[in-house]
Amino acid sequence: MPAERLQKLLARSGYGSRRSAELVIAAGRVTVDGIVAILGTRADPDTQRIEVDGERIRLEPDDVTIVLNKPTGIVVTAVDDRGRQTVFDILHDPPPHLRYVGRLDRDTSGLLLLTTEGELAHRLTHPRYEVMKTYEASVDGQVADGALQRLRQGVMLEDGMTAPAVVEQLPGDTPPTNLRVVIHEGRNRQVRRMFEAVGHHVARLRRTAFGPVSLDDLAPGASRVVTPQELAALRALVGLGPQNEA
Ligand code: URA
Repeated sequence: MPAERLQKLLARSGYGSRRSAELVIAAGRVTVDGIVAILGTRADPDTQRIEVDGERIRLEPDDVTIVLNKPTGIVVTAVDDRGRQTVFDILHDPPPHLRYVGRLDRDTSGLLLLTTEGELAHRLTHPRYEVMKTYEASVDGQVADGALQRLRQGVMLEDGMTAPAVVEQLPGDTPPTNLRVVIHEGRNRQVRRMFEAVGHHVARLRRTAFGPVSLDDLAPGASRVVTPQELAALRALVGLGPQNEA
């Protein structure tokens, strides 16, 4: 691991924010290989011994945010009481504290975000931030203009009116049975229920984007860590600064 600023390393070891870690350093309580550190000191925790009050620090693993292309048939839950395969069963070596950001139905495929960062997960699913989710729906029957208009304006579901949505035909799809739907709400089975409300059964549903993060050509069942640019964009959307900035 390359040398990093001590205040960042201390903040990752349970010494509070970087600001409070700076106070610990300024108080002369931190040593690197036995030498008292000053503000601005950098160290490599893999090769150097960093101590606070004579005790070696222990680093928490960095937070991680993952994109999974969830196949259909997989359940988004920590443990399924019916013993069905969950998203955690198909991830390779998921880190501790990884949690999903919102859910997808068992029959829905596509982009599922998972993160170890609790505050990020909380905000990305909070209605206040209105994070846009993009879906591709294949529906039974031909969707008339009137139905498209109703979906765009909002339809009445049993838990209230839906917010205005973007609903458009996928290129080359005439008559319209394959549609792109962009909504910021995240109610249970919302897209399926929206189409039911205008008389169409959704035969296939896939989420292709969550805010600024897209599925692109990630294979079904495969996962990847979000890029630093995607993470910064996700965090900015929900009013969080750069990662680990305290
Ligand atoms: N809308 C649905 O109907 N299902 C999902 O999984 C997500 C959105």
